[in-house]
Amino acid sequence: MSRKYDEGFHSGAWRGFARCVLILGGVAVAALLLAGCAGGQPDIFRPGGSAGHEIKTLSYQIFGILAVVLVTVWVLLAFVVIKYRRRPESEAAQTHGNLTIEIVWTLIPAIIVTVLLVLTVRTTEQIAMPDPGAQFTAVGHQWWWEFDFPEQGFKTANEVYVAAGRTTSIDVKSVDVIHSFWVPQMGGKVDMIPGRVNHIRFVPLTRGKYLGECSEFCGAQHGKMRFLFVVVSPEEYSAWVHDQAKPAAQPTGAAAIAGGKLIQMIACGGCHAIRGTPMKGTFGPDLTHFGSRSGIAAYTLTNTPQNLLAWLKDPQAIKPESTMPTTPLPLREQQQLVAYLEELK
Ligand code: CUA
Repeated sequence: MSRKYDEGFHSGAWRGFARCVLILGGVAVAALLLAGCAGGQPDIFRPGGSAGHEIKTLSYQIFGILAVVLVTVWVLLAFVVIKYRRRPESEAAQTHGNLTIEIVWTLIPAIIVTVLLVLTVRTTEQIAMPDPGAQFTAVGHQWWWEFDFPEQGFKTANEVYVAAGRTTSIDVKSVDVIHSFWVPQMGGKVDMIPGRVNHIRFVPLTRGKYLGECSEFCGAQHGKMRFLFVVVSPEEYSAWVHDQAKPAAQPTGAAAIAGGKLIQMIACGGCHAIRGTPMKGTFGPDLTHFGSRSGIAAYTLTNTPQNLLAWLKDPQAIKPESTMPTTPLPLREQQQLVAYLEELK
């Protein structure tokens, strides 16, 4: 080894080691920060469903194994770099072609990867469930969710209820581009592909409201394609299904009655359906029980009269490129529409 190369190697090794420590330290700090940022967002480490629990266990197992690998490598690296640093009199031991070492450092990673594989395959098998027949179909649209309950004869949008403790089986598909159905705390996600029906099954365990998200980039408003996934008792679920299957309520307030007439005269029925009225559109969300939902525009806004008015006035300001047109009406008529829609509980 030439003198010049020798020196270059040693200073390079130190620099490489320092860079390595910096990068790994940075990754660790970023991971901690990201974990800390989870407030308000779905936290996969607080699962509410069967698959979510299995995935959390697997995550901890894999993190544990990889942490041991990481620390071992760091310790060995530090040890070697310090103990075998360049000394004027020394020459590095030549181990090229040592069969034992070659076998050892091939075997160790192979064993680690095999253990990870076995754990992952086992979890995948635990998550897979027999098909009890889908309760409903989730349909991806740019950029909202349709939930179709064919047996009960209703469709809803962006908010769906399921019964705790019962296997929930969902068929998923798409009418335009590839979306992905994901309720992070339930665990597991599945692509929604045009022309194909995929399935997802799990048992929701903990009652509560969970955020669902699209997890496949599907266009400008991919980030505003969310839904509410509500886990309730079987009795509450039956009551919800019963309510959703009813046709739209008749408006009672004066403004709502005016809004109910108005909505039939303008173009809303071209895209939206309200069961029990002549509106039969299928391009946009079914509004039959719009007032019962917590969110507007695929859970972009909370469902309040003010937000709904803002949405009707200028949807493009809230969700650019969405197919919802502005409603070019005087304010009083927009308010009547809002009054009517909010009464559709
Ligand atoms: Cu739909 Cu991303």
